[in-house]
Amino acid sequence: MNTNRLGSRQRLKHVVVIGCFSLVLCIFVCSLQHQIPSIVQTKAIVNRTKVILLWTTWFGDRLWFHSKSQIGRHLSKAELCPYTDCVFTNDQSRLKEADVVLFHYNDAPNWPRTRYSHQYYAHHNHEPPGDRGLFTFLGKYEGRINITISYRHDADLYVPYAVLLPVKNSLVYKPRIPLASKRKMAVWPVGHCSTSSKREAYVRELSKYIDVDIYGTCGTHRCPKWRWNSCFKSWERAYKFYLSFENNICRDYATEKLFLPLGYELIPVVLGGGNYSRDAPPHSVIDVRDFDSPKDLAQFLIKLAADEKGYYGYFEWKRKFKTVQMLPWFTCRLCEALHRNTFGHKPAKTHYADYWFGTNDEVCDNQLVPRMRKAGGW
Ligand SMILES: *[C@@H]1O[C@H](CO)[C@@H](O)[C@H](O)[C@H]1NC(C)=O
Ligand SMILES: *[C@@H]1O[C@H](CO)[C@@H](O)[C@H](O)[C@H]1NC(C)=O
Ligand SMILES: *[C@@H]1O[C@H](CO)[C@@H](O)[C@H](O)[C@H]1NC(C)=O
Repeated sequence: MNTNRLGSRQRLKHVVVIGCFSLVLCIFVCSLQHQIPSIVQTKAIVNRTKVILLWTTWFGDRLWFHSKSQIGRHLSKAELCPYTDCVFTNDQSRLKEADVVLFHYNDAPNWPRTRYSHQYYAHHNHEPPGDRGLFTFLGKYEGRINITISYRHDADLYVPYAVLLPVKNSLVYKPRIPLASKRKMAVWPVGHCSTSSKREAYVRELSKYIDVDIYGTCGTHRCPKWRWNSCFKSWERAYKFYLSFENNICRDYATEKLFLPLGYELIPVVLGGGNYSRDAPPHSVIDVRDFDSPKDLAQFLIKLAADEKGYYGYFEWKRKFKTVQMLPWFTCRLCEALHRNTFGHKPAKTHYADYWFGTNDEVCDNQLVPRMRKAGGW
């Protein structure tokens, strides 16, 4: 009895001691994680292959949306890839030779143990800073990141979702699909039903005046997501307009929601924070912000749908340009910038959160739709 009690007291003591030790160890290790390590002075070797090290995952993907065969290899030459003397790798043992160490959005960084002064730490983000709760990383990146890679025009490396390239054979644009055969008004493929931009409220009101077919989990129409191309092909035959409504209304944030339909015979109706007169092809989109209300927009769409010349005027730009998805090519942009030494010496950024949100939260305007609602009484 007595020995038993002694034994359990002893055990308790052990547990407490081990517990305290673990706690202290954890505090020490955790604080190391948040400490900015001292920087080892190193010199970049000029005129050699640039090494781009993917340090974090990309939404859990260690290949950063590339194929396995592309990792650890030189880039291949292509229209959007004039510079190929770069290797991008996820092999962390190559840390020391890396010219760039890449971190993605909010994916847990687990910082490298050693930082070398010839390296750039680059932060790649293509998400909108509309919701501070989704941007917990900014505190972690403060004082560490040399280069921002994003869709923002003011990024160190500007990588939009798509770019416009001139095309040569450009004499006439012949519409492929007769307007009369497009029997329906608007299509809206959507995955998130409740968003910061409140686009769903806008569509609800718009639907009172024109038919909007909602594809995906928020509506009743279905098209398999893994067959985008065939979905778009059927949509361009049936619909006149495509709702390109972003989930956040933030500066320069124009995504594949805009650029995918531009590849087809569909007019995008845009709700977003992009500067479409600069970044979309000329006279290619209809901007919600140009109308006081969903009703005004609907009236405009109804008129345009009955005016063949006016309608096809929105595809005239296709005589001169094509759109090409840019995001998969960001490593090429990075490679080019490294070889041209575009960045020079770039100390780590302080006030990185302010950069993303704006000091007065002015980078996003998710109050746009609520303001319109209030003003229009709908
Ligand atoms: C690097 O290459 C460029 C172009 O080939 C050459 O002009 C330059 O002198 C080289 N620099 C060094 C340090 O070798
Ligand atoms: C959009 O871009 C154009 C061309 O660069 C510029 O003149 C205009 O001021 C921009 N509009 C806004 C709202 O920033
Ligand atoms: C990146 O920032 C760190 C910290 O400011 C600096 O020591 C390093 O030299 C910078 N890298 C480059 C290539 O400019």
